[in-house]
Amino acid sequence: MKIGIASDHGGFLLKEAVKRSFSKIEFDDVGAYSEESCDYPDYISKACAKIQNGELEYAIVICGTGIGASMAANKMSGIRAALCCNEFMAEMAKRHNNANVLALGARVLGEELAFNIIDRWLNTSFEGGRHQRRIDKIHRLEGGRT
Ligand code: RB5
Repeated sequence: MKIGIASDHGGFLLKEAVKRSFSKIEFDDVGAYSEESCDYPDYISKACAKIQNGELEYAIVICGTGIGASMAANKMSGIRAALCCNEFMAEMAKRHNNANVLALGARVLGEELAFNIIDRWLNTSFEGGRHQRRIDKIHRLEGGRT
């Protein structure tokens, strides 16, 4: 499976560490490519656009806190970005919310915790059922028809 990954300067080092740690996963890294100051919407939107056009199913987006990255991602239709600070949130984000984007805060999480969060998100399945109905209602808030 190929996973999109994006960051701003604040998330750059964690993005690189994630790629090294999950060496069996193929990442589509859309930048940023250095710690030089940049604007997170520019990169986060590139990864999410690939989900919108069907090129990718999932993406990880990283900024300093994960807040701006998740805000930007959730402005894009069809994107369900979850800002997760622990493994339980990551598990529920997939089981109940079918989050297709995981947002992380590089200045909030240690590397080990970030890796564990990613691992839990990747290895949890969506439960469907009543949760799909709720997701459909979120989609309708975007103006979608489901
Ligand atoms: C950049 O300094 C910082 O504001 C950004 O990485 C992020 O934390 C925004 O939400």
